[in-house]
Amino acid sequence: MIKNPFIYGEVVRGEDFADREREMAELTRDLKQGERVFLVSPRRYGKTSLIINILMKLREDGLYTVYLDLYKTPSFAQFLELYAQEIAKVAETKLESIIHLIKELLPGLRPKIEVTPNGKPNISVDFRVPDRDLFQLANEVIEAPQKLSIKKGKGFVIAFDEFQEIQNFNKETVEKLMRASFQHHSNVAYLFAGSKKHLVYSMISDRSRAFYKMGKLMPLSKIPRSIFASFLEQKFSETGYTVEKGLINAVLDVTEDYPYNAQLLCHKLWDWCVDSKKVHRELLDPVLNQVLAEETPLYIALWDSLPLHQRRTLQAIASQGGGNIFSHSFIEENNLGAYASVQTSIRLLVKKGILDKENNTYVFTDVFFKEWVKRKMS
Ligand SMILES: Nc1ncnc2c1ncn2[C@@H]1O[C@H](COP(=O)(O)OP(=O)(O)O)[C@@H](O)[C@H]1O
Ligand SMILES: [Mg+2]
Repeated sequence: MIKNPFIYGEVVRGEDFADREREMAELTRDLKQGERVFLVSPRRYGKTSLIINILMKLREDGLYTVYLDLYKTPSFAQFLELYAQEIAKVAETKLESIIHLIKELLPGLRPKIEVTPNGKPNISVDFRVPDRDLFQLANEVIEAPQKLSIKKGKGFVIAFDEFQEIQNFNKETVEKLMRASFQHHSNVAYLFAGSKKHLVYSMISDRSRAFYKMGKLMPLSKIPRSIFASFLEQKFSETGYTVEKGLINAVLDVTEDYPYNAQLLCHKLWDWCVDSKKVHRELLDPVLNQVLAEETPLYIALWDSLPLHQRRTLQAIASQGGGNIFSHSFIEENNLGAYASVQTSIRLLVKKGILDKENNTYVFTDVFFKEWVKRKMS
């Protein structure tokens, strides 16, 4: 049986990874030169996939790479624990060598060997230490890549995904500690990726913050329409499907070119047409309705958690766009009350990650949620 070629919700690689050639070239060059780069875009644009593909390339070119997702490490201790493990594993494969390396590079840590449920031994390090020791150990861990790189004579590239989450730790101390180390790491390049634009921007553009001007800013855009459209079209045709003219464009219109949402919609369309292998335009609407129905429990929960004014603000933006929301006519027309209330609602909706500001327009970060509000809540 032929597999559905549209992948969403996981990292895409190789044949399943569209375009990003310019970004790949620029980032691999910068990172090979040991630069520090901040890669910023809203969620679902393809940051993680881009990072993973870049690291793969850099490994092929002989560099050490470590990838760390800060969503997976809610505390600083967990962050350090995972970081130390990943650094140690990158240079050695044999258990004894890893342990040896940990003892050498991270003398303050005790390696632990556990047997995983599938019977494979796994190395970890223990970070259940009092806070005052934590910073001592943190320093050891953060210095380890530079030391390792010198010892092995190999460049090192570290990618921190969702880096803005670092602010949940003991913010000032952690950021200062990192800055002080990273700055003299001549052999290590750092890639910081973030999906909360306002948080990342304030980290690097605020003079009083430790990461002020710590690196180059690279905003990631969506994949250009024409390139992504050909990619999607090819996935259909490669699997023996024909698509009606205009369908792909309609998919990209309703998903506003978000690669995640476009792939999801194409995935569903592909499934729906598995017998006929012909995708007609009029299918788009019912398929989208089904997608929204599947998301409804989640969206209802989100909706229920919002105060009335924020809901009304979202309804207004969903139906009319978020370009002039502070104008007198927009506020009047949508019965949004006082200007200050609109300001407050917008600020909170941005903080919650439901809205984002793009070129002076407020947009939904989840286009399906927007569509759901428009269809079901208006
Ligand atoms: N270059 C790409 N080519 C094809 N699909 C992509 C690409 N980048 C992202 N996607 C789609 O978007 C989804 C989310 O991508 P991801 O890398 O997790 O984004 P982010 O990290 O910005 O949230 C992927 O599962 C895939 O469906
Ligand atoms: Mg990501």
